[in-house]
Amino acid sequence: MASKIAVVTGANKGLGFGIVRELCKRNVEVVYLTSRDIQRGKDAVTSLEKEGYKPKFHQLDVTDEDSVKTFADFVKANHDGLDILINNAGLLDANYYKVSYEDAKKIIDVNVHGKILMQKYFFPLLRDNGRVINISSDWGHIKNIQNKDWVERLTKKDIKLEDVCAFIDWFLNSIKNNTLKKEDFFENTVMAYRVSKVAVFALTRVQQNEVNRGISINSVNPGIVKTSMTHGTGDFTVSEASVTPVFIALDIDQSVKGKFIWYDKTEVDWADHSLNVIVPFEKFEQGLAEVTKS
Ligand SMILES: NC(=O)c1ccc[n+]([C@@H]2O[C@H](COP(=O)([O-])OP(=O)(O)OC[C@H]3O[C@@H](n4cnc5c(N)ncnc54)[C@H](OP(=O)(O)O)[C@@H]3O)[C@@H](O)[C@H]2O)c1
Repeated sequence: MASKIAVVTGANKGLGFGIVRELCKRNVEVVYLTSRDIQRGKDAVTSLEKEGYKPKFHQLDVTDEDSVKTFADFVKANHDGLDILINNAGLLDANYYKVSYEDAKKIIDVNVHGKILMQKYFFPLLRDNGRVINISSDWGHIKNIQNKDWVERLTKKDIKLEDVCAFIDWFLNSIKNNTLKKEDFFENTVMAYRVSKVAVFALTRVQQNEVNRGISINSVNPGIVKTSMTHGTGDFTVSEASVTPVFIALDIDQSVKGKFIWYDKTEVDWADHSLNVIVPFEKFEQGLAEVTKS
């Protein structure tokens, strides 16, 4: 049997780093730890080598088309396909309470457009029954959006990429034109992140509708994880939080497709607006306050 090949984006630290370690621990033959910064990536590989693992490294900035294409060409030339793609790279709002156009654009470029770029160059390399895991968040559940028209458009079964792009454009234009309405959102904190992660799940559905050859595309909420994104606050260590994404990559039945999977491996209905699954921002704030105190 051919060796299993896995690629993890944004893996020089945090959850991506933990996922690479877990994939290595689970004996996936070829695991690519990728990072936009070469030195940070190589340092991360060195640190895993000290633990006895042997991931490979390649530079990858998910917002840079040349970088994505270069790595895809490299994978194509060196392997006969790809089995697992974990779209992990992500950014959170710089200012939790006030969204700016520049920051929102940056976040959406990494969190959403980065996944679309990865789809363009890496989906053609996926082997039959390959698996893609898009890292999302409870702040990406549809409940985060209160605007009825968008809820309806984003949750329709035959959603298309143009619907996802229109949603993002609506958000960015509303910031630019100062027409953002508080009542359109569940909470007015980390708004660009919430919009980007809602878009990530909508994109997961679009991608699942488009692929064939048995390929599965699922999205996972890892819970609140102690990483630099959360300034070290959270319910889970990186090692704990890496188990479920890798479970989806290796163990879950291949028939599970286009689903929103929770950190406890259960499925949550992303489109069910009546669910109360969103962690209140207040809880995150309390965690931050405790971390700052200690
Ligand atoms: N931590 C949580 O509680 C939590 C909860 C739910 C979901 N998530 C999601 O989990 C994923 C990982 O987050 P984390 O907590 O591990 O955050 P993190 O520690 O801040 O790591 C984020 C990673 O993404 C990389 N990245 C940023 N922009 C990139 C780009 N343009 N191209 C390639 N890589 C890029 C970063 O690289 P640099 O080091 O170069 O910046 C870093 O390696 C994200 O998608 C996040 O939204 C996290």
